[in-house]
Amino acid sequence: MIQSATPPNPAAPQPAAPRVNPLQRIWLREIGMERLWLRPAPAPSRPAAEPQALVSKPVLPAAAPPAEVSARPAVVAPVVAPAAEPAAARPGMPASILNRNGPPPRPAPKAAEEAPAPAPIPVAEAIRNSSLDEMREQVVACEACGLCKGRRNAVFGHGGQPTRWLVVGEAPGEQEDRQGQPFVGRSGQLLDAMLSAVSMSRERDVFITNVIKCRPPGNRNPKPEEIAACSPYLMRQIALLKPERILVLGRFAAQTLLGTDATIGSLRGRIHQLKTDEGLQIPAVVSYHPAYLLRSPVEKARAWQDLQLAARMG
Ligand code: URA
Repeated sequence: MIQSATPPNPAAPQPAAPRVNPLQRIWLREIGMERLWLRPAPAPSRPAAEPQALVSKPVLPAAAPPAEVSARPAVVAPVVAPAAEPAAARPGMPASILNRNGPPPRPAPKAAEEAPAPAPIPVAEAIRNSSLDEMREQVVACEACGLCKGRRNAVFGHGGQPTRWLVVGEAPGEQEDRQGQPFVGRSGQLLDAMLSAVSMSRERDVFITNVIKCRPPGNRNPKPEEIAACSPYLMRQIALLKPERILVLGRFAAQTLLGTDATIGSLRGRIHQLKTDEGLQIPAVVSYHPAYLLRSPVEKARAWQDLQLAARMG
């Protein structure tokens, strides 16, 4: 036989209610034990000031940023690991309360032991939606290849917009690395003279840049992995600037942009059509690099023909 529990004797003295502070009261209410443990609080003579923790906003899980935003600042820096799960797993529960009165928070993972090193975002992905100004900052912060270790300055490029001519060289040299500007050494002086001979100016109608944005040590040739890491910047520059034509200076830039291993002698003197992923088709003229012309001035006559060809096109 099941015996019923003894009914409470209303005359019996009530046990003293345990002392609880306001935070404990909230927690007891949260777990449904408030009525077992607490008597209704006597009406205060004046409203008690609420402890700060009680008015704190619910901690919402961090919203995932839009792809293009997340993608931007992290360019080539490692992706930031997602924030640890917030302590307030229940909606509407201020974390400060849970942390003090609730179950003990899960220990944060030890970064070195549990979190694998975040994979860097490939350049092409990181700059997919970047503006020119945003990409300039991304280039300055770029660590996509080893050239960042030895650079003083990354050299994004310089010029006017709208861009009539895009001039593409190889990579910054010592002076460019010092000043963060393209073609400012002796090659640059010759380039300026060549451009002014066809009434073009780097301030007004020409944007000058390089395939590689950081100086290779000792001006060595860029390595394939450096070209692969860096060339998305040039492709995006072309897509954003939409130049009327491209003047490609030197074998390295020509072979990279035109996807060929043909010699400069066979590529110069004619018009190539450069097709971009965005469906643009931009005429390109290949010519000798100014550094080569400084060493072989006899070729300046051919370079002059190339410039005239480019100038005649529009
Ligand atoms: N040579 C290049 O190809 N680019 C520069 O910016 C300077 C020298």
